[in-house]
Amino acid sequence: MSRIEKALERAAQLKMVEGSGKSVLPDVTGTGLECLLEVEPLEVNNPMLLSSGETSAAVNEEYNRLRSLIVKLSKGDAFRNALLVTSTVSDEGKTLTALNLSIALAREYDHTVLLVDSDLRRPSVHRYLGIQPEVGLIQCLRGEASLSSALIKTGIGKLVVLPAGGTVNDPVDILSSNRMKEIVHELKNRYPDRFVIFDSPPALSFADAQVLANIVDGTIFVVREGVVNGKQLQKTLDYFNNNNLLGVVFNDADIPASEMYSYY
Ligand SMILES: Nc1ncnc2c1ncn2[C@@H]1O[C@H](COP(=O)(O)OP(=O)(O)O)[C@@H](O)[C@H]1O
Ligand SMILES: [Mg+2]
Repeated sequence: MSRIEKALERAAQLKMVEGSGKSVLPDVTGTGLECLLEVEPLEVNNPMLLSSGETSAAVNEEYNRLRSLIVKLSKGDAFRNALLVTSTVSDEGKTLTALNLSIALAREYDHTVLLVDSDLRRPSVHRYLGIQPEVGLIQCLRGEASLSSALIKTGIGKLVVLPAGGTVNDPVDILSSNRMKEIVHELKNRYPDRFVIFDSPPALSFADAQVLANIVDGTIFVVREGVVNGKQLQKTLDYFNNNNLLGVVFNDADIPASEMYSYY
């Protein structure tokens, strides 16, 4: 029996057991995360990731603090579960922040967290995970693959990743398409109690992150110490002023010893 057949059988069993009327059948043309039930998880061993166990207590603590803040900020009249991570320029730590925040959320709540690599210029979530996926968001947007077939179970808690699937020449066009809005809407509403985190390209030179900010619920802005000047930062932050900017992550900051707990 093939993996897909097994997954279908397992999902059918779940449906019978559940008997709640809520469909849990894998939707191979849709977005069902259930399809991943039978798929072998990855074995990720990157020392930069919280899951490696190699990050320091101070680093773990900061990501836990970020997670708590995000959980608090995402509560309100409606759960703001679709969040974008961006920054002014490249190499400020967007992808690392998106990954470690996702890991921290998945670890704490034992809930599926979905990380979407929507940096279609220089995607790198897959590199941190040590994989080379052939399909991802791009193929889903083009209608060449179903979301179910593109999702990857990382084996890190319940973290699931939708890789970019390559690069495109027209990321702004493709990210502003109705199909992208449909995908975000589908992911957001199908799993209303779970976080969907979107990684993105730098926002000073490209409009991708602004486009994405309009279709998610909140934006987390990463600033790496000593990388951009105040003018560049202000200009970029202005782009997000009216777009649910949740806050700023100050990355790789040189914190004076007096501000740290003695045991860090
Ligand atoms: N706080 C940090 N400490 C050490 N290295 C970091 C830190 N943040 C990011 N890096 C490293 O900097 C590089 C760029 O980070 P990345 O998250 O890929 O940036 P971006 O997505 O903004 O382009 C990577 O090699 C990453 O591991
Ligand atoms: Mg990146």
